[in-house]
Amino acid sequence: MLKGHMSHMHWQKLTFRKVAYSILGIYVLITCYTGFHLLSRKLQNEFKQKIIQERIKTLSEIADDPDWNPWGEEFESEQRPLLHHNAPALWEAQQMEMGAQRAPVAQRSPLERRVSNRTESTEHIVEIWGKAAIGLYLWEHIIEGILEERMNGVWSYGEKSLSSISFRFRTGPGVVPSKVPRSTENLLLVLNGRETAKVEVSKMWLELLVTLPHLHNAAVVLLGNEQCNNSWIHPYMAHNGGLVKVVFLVYDSPEIDNIHFYQWPLGVATYRSFPNVKSSDVQIDQRRQYLFNFLGTVYKNSSRETLLCQINNSSYTNLGFIKPRREWMPSETEESREEYVQVLSNSELTFNPVGLNTECYRIYEAMSLGSVPVIEDVLTPGLCQARSGDSHFFTSPLRLLKEFNAPVIYVKNWTQEIDLLLHKEATLSDLERRMRRKTLVEWYSGFKMRMRDRLVNVLLSTFFTSSVR
Ligand SMILES: *[C@@H]1O[C@H](CO)[C@@H](O)[C@H](O)[C@H]1NC(C)=O
Ligand SMILES: *[C@@H]1O[C@H](CO)[C@@H](O)[C@H](O)[C@H]1NC(C)=O
Ligand SMILES: *[C@@H]1O[C@H](CO)[C@@H](O)[C@H](O)[C@H]1NC(C)=O
Ligand SMILES: *[C@@H]1O[C@H](CO)[C@@H](O)[C@H](O)[C@H]1NC(C)=O
Ligand SMILES: *[C@@H]1O[C@H](CO)[C@@H](O)[C@H](O)[C@H]1NC(C)=O
Ligand SMILES: *[C@@H]1O[C@H](CO)[C@@H](O)[C@H](O)[C@H]1NC(C)=O
Repeated sequence: MLKGHMSHMHWQKLTFRKVAYSILGIYVLITCYTGFHLLSRKLQNEFKQKIIQERIKTLSEIADDPDWNPWGEEFESEQRPLLHHNAPALWEAQQMEMGAQRAPVAQRSPLERRVSNRTESTEHIVEIWGKAAIGLYLWEHIIEGILEERMNGVWSYGEKSLSSISFRFRTGPGVVPSKVPRSTENLLLVLNGRETAKVEVSKMWLELLVTLPHLHNAAVVLLGNEQCNNSWIHPYMAHNGGLVKVVFLVYDSPEIDNIHFYQWPLGVATYRSFPNVKSSDVQIDQRRQYLFNFLGTVYKNSSRETLLCQINNSSYTNLGFIKPRREWMPSETEESREEYVQVLSNSELTFNPVGLNTECYRIYEAMSLGSVPVIEDVLTPGLCQARSGDSHFFTSPLRLLKEFNAPVIYVKNWTQEIDLLLHKEATLSDLERRMRRKTLVEWYSGFKMRMRDRLVNVLLSTFFTSSVR
């Protein structure tokens, strides 16, 4: 009896054990299988990403300037986009706890607003990915957006709403194809098309567009080539079957039609950290030490050499600041930048003999500091001639400045005009100079605003109006 009971219990135990083991076995099997499946998928994905990264890496190795390195291999966490949505509530709660302390990186600053009430938002979100240095000019100078470093500067982020568009700007080495938000619907891509290596990288970004599953709209801000040959971008244009609806293009070009191509200003050289000067910070009323300045690299046989000679011989030589350089130094030191900004802020005029293109950073840099640019009004060799016969287009070069009536001085021939120009300048009264500075600084500030409005309006009409153009 007892034995029978024992054996019965033993049998029960055995069965229980068997069942338990088989369940465990099945569980292990399933886990292993799922694990294997997940792992192989993960490996596949990682392999794919690795290939893309390798490609970027090889491209970036040729593409790097010593002065601007927009490429890198570090990344932000994939989780970031999710955090964005949760952040507002968190932020408010923590803000109460921490008083006025600064919010941690993952959370929103109230200045950046948006997303706090998803139902109220009829705003369109437009992502801006800055993959060329001119992106900083667009974001900080034109849009006047705030930029916050993330992950010790691996990338930077900012948000700003204009009209019914909420812009989200991302830039820095961490902004790579594998890390951009795949949920992006509307995109403004800032690209560099100055030279072959840069074009290769830009093409890669444009080829990425088809892989973004939710993308409806794409536009490009393009630093064009100085000879104004940007034909490589044509296959990516929407009217040629691509995805890019509109391009904001730097430098005069026959392509500018204000339908598919709009002209975009070169702006100041953010790549060598030229500051974002507020118009209110410009010393309008202060007397300036120099009548003019001539700074920069002097190429042999160039009009810069002619100008330098002319100035050197002029009776007004001593009234200016002249510092020619024989070689181009790409990376500005803190000191040389400081000196440069000081000299421009202390000059009535800033000479701009042509470089690679008639339009140069210095024109905008001088304007932002209240120094009147004296610009050589000579067409850049290449394809920079505006289309003839379009009466509503201003003549090249510098159509954008001419269209908006920039208060600058144009010179056709230094040899013929410089003496008269300097003579006239020397006889201006302080009041006249002050008025001119004021006009210039106000004009530049208004110009940036108009560029911003134009950008927003073009995006609104090309991205968010259903009407067929
Ligand atoms: C969100 O929007 C709704 C509708 O516009 C409004 O009733 C509500 O008060 C808003 N909530 C917050 C927190 O702003
Ligand atoms: C413009 O560049 C393309 C290469 O992108 C080249 O094939 C073409 O010949 C160039 N056109 C001119 C006029 O230089
Ligand atoms: C400059 O121009 C002169 C005459 O036009 C020419 O002989 C000389 O080789 C040129 N120098 C350079 C560096 O291009
Ligand atoms: C300018 O003139 C001075 C002397 O008047 C001369 O030493 C100098 O070499 C000249 N510079 C240039 C670039 O012509
Ligand atoms: C500058 O002055 C020197 C001597 O006075 C003269 O030989 C030279 O031709 C002048 N150069 C120009 C460009 O006027
Ligand atoms: C500028 O004017 C001078 C003197 O009239 C002339 O010799 C020179 O060829 C002109 N330069 C250009 C680029 O037209």
